[in-house]
Amino acid sequence: MAAFPKHVLEHFKQPKNEEPLPDPQAQGEVEGRRADSRLTLYLRVLEGTIERATWTVEKDRSCRLGLSLLSCYLPGKTVGEAEALDPEALAAHYGLHEDQRPMFMPPLEALRAALANLRGEPSPFLEEGPLVCHCLQVREGRIRRAIRERELRSVKEVTYWTRACSGCRSCRGDVELLLEAEGALPPAAPAEQSWWRAWLRGKEP
Ligand code: FES
Repeated sequence: MAAFPKHVLEHFKQPKNEEPLPDPQAQGEVEGRRADSRLTLYLRVLEGTIERATWTVEKDRSCRLGLSLLSCYLPGKTVGEAEALDPEALAAHYGLHEDQRPMFMPPLEALRAALANLRGEPSPFLEEGPLVCHCLQVREGRIRRAIRERELRSVKEVTYWTRACSGCRSCRGDVELLLEAEGALPPAAPAEQSWWRAWLRGKEP
């Protein structure tokens, strides 16, 4: 992976805005990338503009850099601008290499959950389904969402954006099935199916 620019390394060494915000207008909580981990983003919003963003994490220090950068980016942005924010825009703002974009995925989910909370709506991440990748703690909902929203077409692309299937790789068959279920892969012909995919298909209702 490319080295972080110096101004980003400062967030790595000393993350900014890591604290709960007293009386936030909105807060969003999502699962991190470790078992039982949570990250929470707090927002103070005045007349449609974000004044302050802070965050906390439990049991997942890997999300601290993305949260620190996000929390410094948001103040001064309108709610509409925050809703449209994506990893590409954040990475470009901080001068990051494209390989570094996926670190913003869980923090941006926390932002979307907070914006839903601001609108008085439930978090869109409450029902994330079963764990698909146990090594990297990735649930079905996160994988399906990445496939749909980022138009992913391969296990490699799913791994890039979600980190699923980057450990022991025993979840590869499940990820392929999710790609098929989302219409991103044609169903494999029986002769092409590996034994574990055939076994997984046998488990389908
Ligand atoms: S279960 Fe997904 S990499 Fe091990």
